[in-house]
Amino acid sequence: LNNGVARTPPMGWNTWNTFGCNINETLIRQMADAIVAAGMRDLGYRYVVVDDCWFNPDRDAQGNLQAHPTRFPSGMRALGDYLHARGLLFGIYQSPMDQTCAQYFDAFPGATGSLGHEAQDARQFAAWGVDFLKYDWCSPSGTINDQVTAFAKMRDALAATGRPIVYSINPNSIHEKTGPLRNWSDVANMWRTTEDITNAWDTGQTNGYPMGIQNIVNVNVPLASYAGPGGFNDPDMMEVGRSGLTATEQRSHFALWAVMAAPLIAGNDLRSASAETLAILKNADLIAVNQDPLGLQAVQVSNDGTRRVLAKRLANGDVAVALFNQGGSTTTISTTAAAIGKTGSSFTLRDLWTGASSTSSGTISATVPAHGTTVFRVSGGGTSTPPPSFRLRGEASGRC
Ligand code: GLA
Repeated sequence: LNNGVARTPPMGWNTWNTFGCNINETLIRQMADAIVAAGMRDLGYRYVVVDDCWFNPDRDAQGNLQAHPTRFPSGMRALGDYLHARGLLFGIYQSPMDQTCAQYFDAFPGATGSLGHEAQDARQFAAWGVDFLKYDWCSPSGTINDQVTAFAKMRDALAATGRPIVYSINPNSIHEKTGPLRNWSDVANMWRTTEDITNAWDTGQTNGYPMGIQNIVNVNVPLASYAGPGGFNDPDMMEVGRSGLTATEQRSHFALWAVMAAPLIAGNDLRSASAETLAILKNADLIAVNQDPLGLQAVQVSNDGTRRVLAKRLANGDVAVALFNQGGSTTTISTTAAAIGKTGSSFTLRDLWTGASSTSSGTISATVPAHGTTVFRVSGGGTSTPPPSFRLRGEASGRC
């Protein structure tokens, strides 16, 4: 979406994965302070997103949304001010239906979705200083055309406020099959591509609830051509730092989100994050790959069912190569500079987990543990006409 924001994937933190509906203004302020104290803000994690359940179950007499009186007694404007004063940005959640997802599932009372209130709610958000709206379709019914109409309505309402607001949509709740069917880049800055993530590696789902990391990767990788500055595939908020994944799996999760140009939205409790967790979330080399100004999502160069190779072109001519082992035992994964669109015979490979650099005449190879992902930043040489598997958005003519 060409609205001036999200030229690179948005980064931040969201309440939902850890806290669900158990949120309040004290928690959000503590998390904002933790983001700053951990040095995450300065690495780019700026959007603090208050997900479902922040509002009063009733609108006021004029039909305005109101903050929940006991959870957010100071009001949403005050929360936005708190975040802005710390160099952070303010995200909020709503739904195009008459109920948010938690209301739909009876986890929260009321029917205060934005249906019929789109312009009024957009103006309210702008007045509160909102910088990011997550807009969540939560209904078992509706066609893809219904979704396009509903999501475009709020897009236009946000634009009419004149405030730059990242527009994050979720076409997939319950109606999980519609998301990947469409390129949403004319509608939103980011769009969920799968059902909800959970803190597990593999739930056996193809695109049903809940999705493990491996399951999400399978859906999101083929959508690479949809991504670009202003519009990104959203494989959901991260589970790094939560239980249920091994350290290797958490590193893999982060590395794959980084090369997939996914929004990097942490979902763990940052007040108690371990040094190991922060070392993953704060990997500056992987963040730089994710935030590269070309905004390209890695394309899959090869996949033999166990060994997957993904490559992401970067603005300075380097290519980030992810060697992902989706099998159950350690294996060697190899590709070549030619296969990732490089010419020449002398390259530097920087391992973005260890920081170690090595030289290569063309082979790119690593021993990768089960569920692990090694990422090399490959520099040197020139850039070839991309082979068909490497044609990205704007490269259909074969030139990059
Ligand atoms: C849906 C979304 C989640 C979260 C919840 C809130 O399930 O996919 O990310 O926003 O709704 O109820």
